[in-house]
Amino acid sequence: MKHLLLFLVLSFPSFAQTTDNQYNLIPFPAQFSGQTGQFTLSSATRIVITPAKDPAVRAVAQTVAGQIKTANGLSLSVSPTTPALAKGAHIFFSLNKKLTLGNEGYKLTITPARILAEAATPNGLFYAAQTLRQLLPAGQMTTATLPACAIADKPRFGYRGLMLDVGRHFMPVPFVKKFIDLMALHKQNTFHWHLTEDQGWRIEIKKYPKLTQVGSKRAESIVGQYSQNYPQQFDGKPVSGFYTQAEIRDVVRYAQSRFVTIIPEIEMPGHAQAALASYPELGCDPAKGYQVYTKWGVSEDVYCPSEKTFTFLQDVLTEVIALFPGKYIHIGGDECPKTAWKNSAFCQDLMKKNGLKDEHELQSYFIRRIEKFLNSKGRSIIGWDEILESGLAPNATVMSWRGTAGGIAAAKQKHTVIMSPAGTCYLDSYQGNPATEPLAIGGYLPLDQVYAYEPMPAELSAAEQKYVMGVQGNIWTEYLPTPEAVEYAAFPRAVALAEISWMPAGTHNFEDFALRLKNHLPQLDQNFGPSVPVNYAKRLFDISASTQPNAQGQLQVQLSKLDTDSRIFYTINGREPNERSTEYIGPITLTKTTTIRAMTPTGGKLTQTFTLHKGKNKPYTYAQSPAPTNDPKTNKLTDGVRGETPRDRRQWVNFFGNMDIVLDLGDVTSVTKVSLNFLKVILDKSFPPTSVNIALSKDGADFKEALTQPINYELTGPWDILPVVADFKTARARYVRIRAKNAGECPAGHPDAGQKTYFSTDEIVVE
Ligand code: ACM
Repeated sequence: MKHLLLFLVLSFPSFAQTTDNQYNLIPFPAQFSGQTGQFTLSSATRIVITPAKDPAVRAVAQTVAGQIKTANGLSLSVSPTTPALAKGAHIFFSLNKKLTLGNEGYKLTITPARILAEAATPNGLFYAAQTLRQLLPAGQMTTATLPACAIADKPRFGYRGLMLDVGRHFMPVPFVKKFIDLMALHKQNTFHWHLTEDQGWRIEIKKYPKLTQVGSKRAESIVGQYSQNYPQQFDGKPVSGFYTQAEIRDVVRYAQSRFVTIIPEIEMPGHAQAALASYPELGCDPAKGYQVYTKWGVSEDVYCPSEKTFTFLQDVLTEVIALFPGKYIHIGGDECPKTAWKNSAFCQDLMKKNGLKDEHELQSYFIRRIEKFLNSKGRSIIGWDEILESGLAPNATVMSWRGTAGGIAAAKQKHTVIMSPAGTCYLDSYQGNPATEPLAIGGYLPLDQVYAYEPMPAELSAAEQKYVMGVQGNIWTEYLPTPEAVEYAAFPRAVALAEISWMPAGTHNFEDFALRLKNHLPQLDQNFGPSVPVNYAKRLFDISASTQPNAQGQLQVQLSKLDTDSRIFYTINGREPNERSTEYIGPITLTKTTTIRAMTPTGGKLTQTFTLHKGKNKPYTYAQSPAPTNDPKTNKLTDGVRGETPRDRRQWVNFFGNMDIVLDLGDVTSVTKVSLNFLKVILDKSFPPTSVNIALSKDGADFKEALTQPINYELTGPWDILPVVADFKTARARYVRIRAKNAGECPAGHPDAGQKTYFSTDEIVVE
């Protein structure tokens, strides 16, 4: 088995034979040795604890017995150790303070005679038990066998987190617990609970009842993405929900029993519109009529840095501190527009009085005051990386989300950091083809890219690296209205993050992970009992296609998949493929426009049309230089890949002025048709050009046969793709020139009236 080959190198001695797929552990242990034989577990097996009277060890044993009962239907009783039991075929949980594997490390030894879990802490014992649980077969059973092995394990990073946004969409308590349990199963130890937003306040605060009476309810939500409809459309469906303090205490206790620390986030100074809707006097313009925000994106209405606001926030934080025992309180700090402060006489006066030179310094003043308050209560703050601007609060931890630069800068300033860069840690992005996936916020982050993330920035010295506490995945819920949608977005990508934050640097390998994951996924279906599956995405089984020319210049299509041990079958005749179709063994050479349909027995499916046209792979030049910034290699417009949907901008080249392109077909040849598509996303200032002129030439100097096409479109309506086709019937040419005219400025009535528009096209198709 592949992962054994990989890990034997690092492990303590092992000479055992093992068979495939017995040890589908995630995260894979730091030291692992497979052994022969197996232990048989039944309801006669006990969890025997040492020291016999240790309440914390007993509590862990009972939690684990409960987990096994739910997932596997096996009832294991918990017993204090006795000389008679110590000789039996049981699971031994033994606290051993001499072990040097840290606070979370453990040893787990499974032999045919017994199972021994040892750790210096109850937390380590709990993790030994999570490993043990992963070795059990998935599903309900009366007896089970566990393959023999010897494990010594501890994490690479002390902070292994996931954030859940319950502001955009409220998530009920049973789901929050399920989410925490899934974290614990993969040894993630920090749940960052994003509790307040522009779109909803979700935590009961006794002193300010309107926060939940008013702030937890919004009238409706925007339909689709921010720029999808012009004008924006709203669904008319109210969204509400909040956690009572009793519920929060219950969730905190639940998390503690699974060694998950909860970090509550109370956003400030921005992302506060739900609080302002509840208590307008906290804003800079109380007469404005603040409502709980119904759009996604960032509201310009933020807390005014008044004494009223500081009193309010200190009162809120005092109640928050009483609910959450952990060291850290997250105070947000991100995306705080400064418009309201610029327009506020109070803010301008406050800045003068305190010698603050701009609104960024005012934000820094705001965060420092809150930090001082929280420090005085024995707590520390975490903020998103914007808190670096105009000076960090003295003891703050930075959560790096706008890439890694914030994390690097903070570590260099000797501040602790948590790495959560959007490009690799935002699990609300697309994980498969955006044209066929559920609508997401954007981005493209397949499982293997998450897994490839190395959290430790190479820019940091060894001394600076000590400030990197760990890694966090974030699940923002604008487009994830239900627990099922959250599960789909988060899993299994969160599991990939769990592994990279646990395993020793440089020891992991995606192919090996994918094989283990494939066998681990059925456990997620059974972890909460047979009727409570996890709605994880199955993109691991997807087939993807890439193209390249062969030596003769023909198009070759390569099919690949993350799930490397299954086979691919395909058709090119339009029929649905099945296991009797042609098996894919190597690149498929295409000589005409073709739709490939492919499948794998594990559920992978692909339908993709490859456009072969005379312009494909032919060079072109931009008359205006430089080329558009998102076409640096000047190849995207003839790469044969069309933009499929406005959701996914990767294929689209953006023109901020007019377009003037000359394509060289290499030889004079017949040209019957030239076509291209333009995106229409009016709210994003992406207006199709007003006219397109397509001209042909034999010599590249004298362009004739020009066809001018005006493009008429309604500004209103949903985003769209508009085609332009020039039909030349029987022309001959070597050069094709395309000129398109920018639509100018956004018209009156548009939110960006007077600002420049741009247009986007994906492929120049020459037939
Ligand atoms: C963030 O994504 N605004 C932290």
